[in-house]
Amino acid sequence: MTHRFPTLVNGRPAAGLSVSDRGLMYGDGVFRTIRVHQGRPVWWAAHMAKLASDAERLAIPAPPPDVWDRDLSTLLASTPPDCVLKLVLTRGPGMRGYRPAGQAMPTRLLTASAWPAHIEAVAARGAHLQLCRLRLSEQPRLAGIKHLNRLENVLAAQEWDDPSIDEGLLLDAAGRVICGVSSNVFIYRDDALFTPRLDRCGVAGVARARLIGVAADLKLAVHETDIHLDQLLEADEVMLTNSLIRIWPVARLGGRTWDGPRVSAELRTLLDAQGAAGHLEKPAARPGCRVGRCSLTRLTVHGPTAAPADERRR
Ligand SMILES: Cc1ncc(COP(=O)(O)O)c(C=O)c1O
Repeated sequence: MTHRFPTLVNGRPAAGLSVSDRGLMYGDGVFRTIRVHQGRPVWWAAHMAKLASDAERLAIPAPPPDVWDRDLSTLLASTPPDCVLKLVLTRGPGMRGYRPAGQAMPTRLLTASAWPAHIEAVAARGAHLQLCRLRLSEQPRLAGIKHLNRLENVLAAQEWDDPSIDEGLLLDAAGRVICGVSSNVFIYRDDALFTPRLDRCGVAGVARARLIGVAADLKLAVHETDIHLDQLLEADEVMLTNSLIRIWPVARLGGRTWDGPRVSAELRTLLDAQGAAGHLEKPAARPGCRVGRCSLTRLTVHGPTAAPADERRR
């Protein structure tokens, strides 16, 4: 039987929004997509913090977390234990024109949908990536924010209709790897993780931050840096992150294939253990956990903003 998923607008069951809502008119808002697993929203506190900081950057007054907590309890009372939550916060209804006038009356939207069945299967076999033709444009004022203006992603996602492709890879105009169409990207090589800087464009996802945290616990160096396509193709492993997939190892991009990624699989297990720990923000690293060629717990910490070993294309 198909489940009927509820929608809450400002805490009440509702079917629609004001036609003058600035989220609809201008994409003037932010959002979050959250995994609900066994009845619990995974990384809830981190999502609340990210929503609040994204809203602050757009000067949208964010409701306090207890308001979202109440909405969440109402919604979860009528959803299956495993599903997807979407939270949207807009600046609310407004008069015509870009300039927000008067006191904002933000709109909160909470919806749920079915858990996508393919996620674990793709995690097990590895994701098939396609390089998108669309190039992301730079806007440092918006970089990192998960705002509602996602037309680049909408265009990019229409570049393939081959059902064997799981995700598109996006570069910026200078040919730097930025992200997947709906995910962040990491590469693993030289016993370290590298992930694109997101200060010019891209979304700084919660799963990305959680993976950086897990790596720090393991003393596995993470470098936020410029990554060019040939560096990604030369990597020992490539992985994608978002709050639903957690980590997908990449198995294929064009003619390049990666077999049996071990580090990605190990990190995914650790990230999931962190999600299962619920309120525990920082689980202890498992001593002796082995990934790649060496024990992660014995690696040197370089810090997340240190320069990469290979600077040749910067
Ligand atoms: C463009 C983009 N980047 C990154 C992410 C990852 O965000 P998060 O880890 O917060 O789910 C998403 C998630 O949907 C996304 O759409």
